[in-house]
This record gives sequence, C-alpha cells and structure tokens, in this order.
Amino acid sequence: MSHNTIAINQRMDRFNSHASVWLFGYGSLIYKADFPFLERRPASIAGWTRRFWQGSHDHRGTEAAPGRVVTLVPDAEATCHGMAYLVTPEEFAHLDHREKNGYLRLATEIRFEDGSSAEGLVYIATHENAAYLGPASKQAIARQIAASRGPSGPNSEYLLELARALRELGKDDPHVFEIERHLMKLVPSPVKVVART
Ligand code: BEZ
Repeated sequence: MSHNTIAINQRMDRFNSHASVWLFGYGSLIYKADFPFLERRPASIAGWTRRFWQGSHDHRGTEAAPGRVVTLVPDAEATCHGMAYLVTPEEFAHLDHREKNGYLRLATEIRFEDGSSAEGLVYIATHENAAYLGPASKQAIARQIAASRGPSGPNSEYLLELARALRELGKDDPHVFEIERHLMKLVPSPVKVVART
C-alpha cells in the first residue's frame, strides 16, 4: 500500500540550495533521529494537531494488518509540539525513503521556545494517501496498536515512546495520552521500550 511519495517529494526542491534546513518532527522523530543533524531544538507548529490516523504497513504493521502512526490534521486553534532538527538538504532523500508510505513534504513556519521562528519542512500524510485510515475511537485505535507489529517493531512501542518523549518535553497531548491509557489496559505489562524508528 503505497503512493510512492518519493517522486512527489523530490519535486519539492524549495530548500535544495540552502546550506541547512529545519525539519519539524512530531512522531518518532521526537525520540529518535536516525540521520545526522547540526542542531536539535524543542519546537512547535501552529494550526495542526497530531492524530493516530495514518496506517503503517511498512514500519509498525504489515500489508495484511496495518498499524497506526501519527500524522497531522489541520486545526486552526491547535499547536503541535515536537522537536526540530537542523539538517543539510541531502538528508531529505533518506527521509523521503523512510516515510514513503504517504507522507509529503510541506513548508511551514517552525516556532522555537525562545520565541524565534524559521521556515522549514514537515512531513504530513493527508487523507488523500492510500495508507490513510482516518478517525476511530481511542479504544479502537488502542486495540489496533496493541495488535500490530511490523519490521520496525511493535506498534505499542511507537505509542509508548512517543508518549514518554512528549512527557519529557513537558507537553500535553490528550489524544496520545488517552490512547496510551487504553493501551495500558490491554497489555499486561509495558513492552520493553528500545529506541527504534
Ligand atoms: C515524525 O516523526 O515527525 C515524522 C517524520 C516523517 C514522517 C512522519 C512523521
């Protein structure tokens, strides 16, 4: 299940001539960066909210039993907190490949905690991509996450690591924390958490 977003993303070449570009991470990028970066800073973007609405057939699930991972959906009132990485534009080839299952590069304003901001990139999977699953109740999302596992490991590990990383940043996200609460009722003990994508 893939749109092959690699080719589409490579046409988004706006930052190619820049020496470095800020990349905003709101999912696994908050707790794990498997690429070199020049700097990393807690950051946020306005007008978006994090949701476990994207299917994962290649990392945290399979074609037959997709897991759920986060994407961003527009919400004028919301601010999404995460981690920004200053990278060289060459890193985007790796990220395009890693996130080829529906995520598209989008230019956005990234705000830092000191009040400064910069234009940068974020990867978003919209409702138009083939792997999009869309809304479900938090209990149903937790059940799907509890049952899913893919080449990158258990889907539950992704959720628990994301929740842990958000707590470490001191940021609330009721959507993530409520799904985590439901998950904890389904799994007898937390999976051993190791950093994976
Ligand atoms: C992230 O973890 O922020 C992320 C990166 C690429 C695609 C989707 C999410």
